[in-house]
Amino acid sequence: MKVTVAGTGYVGLVTGVCLAEIGHEVICIDINEEKIRLLKQGKSPIYEPGLEELLEKNAKRRSLYFTTSPKEAYSEREVIIIAVGTPENRDGSANLSYVEAAAKDIAEHMTDHVIVTIKSTVPVGTNHRVKELLNQYKAPHLQVKVVSNPEFLREGSAIQDTFKGDRIVIGSACQHAGDVIETMYKPLNIPIVRTDIKSSEMIKYASNAFLATKISFINEIANICEKLGANIEDVARGIGLDSRIGDKFLQAGIGYGGSCFPKDTKALVQLAGNVKHDFELLESVIKVNNHQPLLLLQKATDIAGDLYRKKVALLGLSFKPNTDDVRESASLVLAKKLLENGSIVSVYDPIATDNAKKMLGDHVIYCTSIDEAIRGAELTFIGTEWVEIKEYPVANYKKLMKNPRVFDGRNCYSLAEMKRHEIVYVSIGRKAILQQM
Ligand code: UGA
Repeated sequence: MKVTVAGTGYVGLVTGVCLAEIGHEVICIDINEEKIRLLKQGKSPIYEPGLEELLEKNAKRRSLYFTTSPKEAYSEREVIIIAVGTPENRDGSANLSYVEAAAKDIAEHMTDHVIVTIKSTVPVGTNHRVKELLNQYKAPHLQVKVVSNPEFLREGSAIQDTFKGDRIVIGSACQHAGDVIETMYKPLNIPIVRTDIKSSEMIKYASNAFLATKISFINEIANICEKLGANIEDVARGIGLDSRIGDKFLQAGIGYGGSCFPKDTKALVQLAGNVKHDFELLESVIKVNNHQPLLLLQKATDIAGDLYRKKVALLGLSFKPNTDDVRESASLVLAKKLLENGSIVSVYDPIATDNAKKMLGDHVIYCTSIDEAIRGAELTFIGTEWVEIKEYPVANYKKLMKNPRVFDGRNCYSLAEMKRHEIVYVSIGRKAILQQM
């Protein structure tokens, strides 16, 4: 099939590359010339395991093209996928200006009947609005159908999520248009959910809101475990083995971040508010999440006192491992709070340092190894559970820090090990190890 993907962010680029891999002829378009220049050289502008190999392979066999030209991208196409960003407005609602601009561009440049598929996360009712825009700007003799097809891939495992996804959701008012999109995905052999457009739009928000709820729920249980002397890891395992609950997304920590959960939960609260529904449950989920990094900081000041002028290390800056993305990262919330407290902060991340620099500027000391970051520090915070951090020899904290006190926001180490090494160790939902022998 001749497919165009508008937007080369995580969702658009991975979708384009994977559709090329399963045999489609794909053009990816973006308004960002620098991104397209890199992509044309076979380089990925984002860090995503496995992406660059597939990109190179499909570009070489000429099933994947990149352009900034709407004329090139939108003429003689069967399917056009909109996968542009929907950033957050000031009031928490989704900003649809990129989606609308893409729709207008498509309408003005399409040369054949086409199916426009919306993959961007958009509030219920947006597909309808896009259809109106397309009809308003397209040539009268051309037909356009709109299909909602939300995306569920995660950063850091996006390729695998695309090839081995749990489901593909297709929302359409036209049976034929939905069938075409179903055929496009057939080689992936993933269960398909067919539904109407509004339900499809809602599935996306409900999925992300539910997963965020699971995280805030387990974080609250962790906070209570700490006070009662229970262990969150055993509790999570004990509840997760119930297949009705499931063992995924029960990892307690300093909270969820990234470009999706924080934005989408707020957008759903806003969407509910628009129809005069007070989504109190989700509001609490957001509140718990905002508070979670601050609790770890509070525990640190309870133990170490005022952090003013203290040398503090922060390990991990991305919002989760295996990505260079620092958007809404709980680790950066910690960094900013530490700076507000007047701490001298040394940071280390295996991949995300360049992106973190854009947010933290020259207010922190950027290190190129864990050793360098923790050397001489009085406290170490862990914000992201990178394998490199999890596998770091814990004896080194004692050896290199001025005062070996580790505040682990992602439960990277076993309590027994930290006890053995006589390190003050405070994690999430587990007993604190306070005694240094
Ligand atoms: C999330 C969803 O998982 C995807 O299905 C969805 O497609 C995507 O948003 C999106 O809407 O585009 P992503 O943001 O890439 O994917 O990352 P996740 O793996 O879901 O992690 C989100 C945050 O939750 C991270 O900060 C992670 O540290 C945190 N998390 C996750 C926990 O704190 N505990 C857990 O048990 C799981």
